Amino acid sequence: MDRILIRGGNRLSGRLPISGAKNAALTLMPCALLTDEPLVLRNLPRLADVDGFGHLLNQLGASTRVEGARPGEFGRVMTIRVGALTSTEAPYDIVRKMRASILVLGPVLARAGEARVSLPGGCAIGNRPIDLHLKALEAIGAELEMSAGYVTARAPGGRLAGGRYSFPVVSVGATENVLMAAVTARGSSRIENAAREPEIVDLCRCLVAMGASIDGIGTETLEIEGRERLHGATYAVMPDRIEAGSYACAAAITGGSLDLAGASADDMAATLVALREAGVTVEAYKGGVKVSADGPLRPLTLSTAPFPGFATDMQAQFMAMLALADGASVLTETIFENRYMHVPELARMGADIHVSGRTAVVRGVAGLTGAPVMATDLRASMSLILAGLAATGETQVSRVYHLDRGYERLEEKLSAVGADIERVGDG
Ligand code: UD1
Repeated sequence: MDRILIRGGNRLSGRLPISGAKNAALTLMPCALLTDEPLVLRNLPRLADVDGFGHLLNQLGASTRVEGARPGEFGRVMTIRVGALTSTEAPYDIVRKMRASILVLGPVLARAGEARVSLPGGCAIGNRPIDLHLKALEAIGAELEMSAGYVTARAPGGRLAGGRYSFPVVSVGATENVLMAAVTARGSSRIENAAREPEIVDLCRCLVAMGASIDGIGTETLEIEGRERLHGATYAVMPDRIEAGSYACAAAITGGSLDLAGASADDMAATLVALREAGVTVEAYKGGVKVSADGPLRPLTLSTAPFPGFATDMQAQFMAMLALADGASVLTETIFENRYMHVPELARMGADIHVSGRTAVVRGVAGLTGAPVMATDLRASMSLILAGLAATGETQVSRVYHLDRGYERLEEKLSAVGADIERVGDG
């Protein structure tokens, strides 16, 4: 299995291009299930999860064609066409490996009147149920049946009726699923306490480009007028705000200066506010964000929250950065339980972190030291890369397949701005 080796201590500096957003790509791709015409997605990141989702769509009957990036560009173009569904099932083996597979439930149900999806089971960052996905689909007319680890959803008469649902807890995935199901319902739907993440806005815009009628985009109340059918479209995936935020932390932790080309400051306001508060200089311009740091960082008190709050997907990276701040920081994780698996690994590099329940107290230390560490989930892995960039000596990060799920060409991007980083195989 591959490992990543980092010899820390270099200040990063230069231009670093930001890829298309993984989490947007994974909800835009299933939109292709809603029409028999081609959906062309531009700026698609080259990631293991995107390839995995493409394979799932192929199993459902989609033909997919990928055109590579042009020289100097990262994004790929994928044309997805689902002339007819050949299967309505997302099997256990795929859902188990990639939780986002459940996002085919809504659109397959809408298109075929029936869908069968394996229940995802546990995952590394906690017990992530899909009850809200199911309740929301039920509220717009789906009939559900659970058996043998699968949920089967049916639309009586072949088409969902539409309806009203108010989420008791904000859920990104469940909002996406019910939206994709509601756009071709017979009647109208109203989704309250919907997630407002920029990826949801991206999804709404793509659906509108395909002919959907959605009001309230970007707000917590979405009103959908069902359409008989959607058509094909060409749509560019939004920039990855979490990738951009992660590299902003890389600039900050190395006392460096990065131009995050393509990043959208509006989508990552809470991250940029927190960076400024820590003493990092942030300059947003049209088409990117420049981030630079000089001198010790200030400690922070941060709590994760649904958008527009501070993203749970940035918690681990900030923890690595704050491990070197000048004082004690307090981080509270409110979205996922068990999202502190990077803590023992960071501690092995010299970080002083104490977790009690959902809160972590991070006491800044003068320096970190390189060590062999193990990646446990996607964003936790990035916190280890960040710590390695700032540590003295060599850090070896194993289980890098977690990183390959969400960071396009990580070593290439970081080496180009001065990091001493390489990927090595076991052989
Ligand atoms: C998405 C993102 C993930 C991000 C998360 C929160 C993708 C592919 N993943 O995950 O990177 O960390 O949003 O911003 O876009 N919940 C339930 N029942 C459900 C669904 C969710 O109880 O049916 C709970 C979850 O356990 C969690 C909270 O709701 O505590 C929020 O989860 P949710 O927003 O659904 O996260 P995902 O869509 O899985």
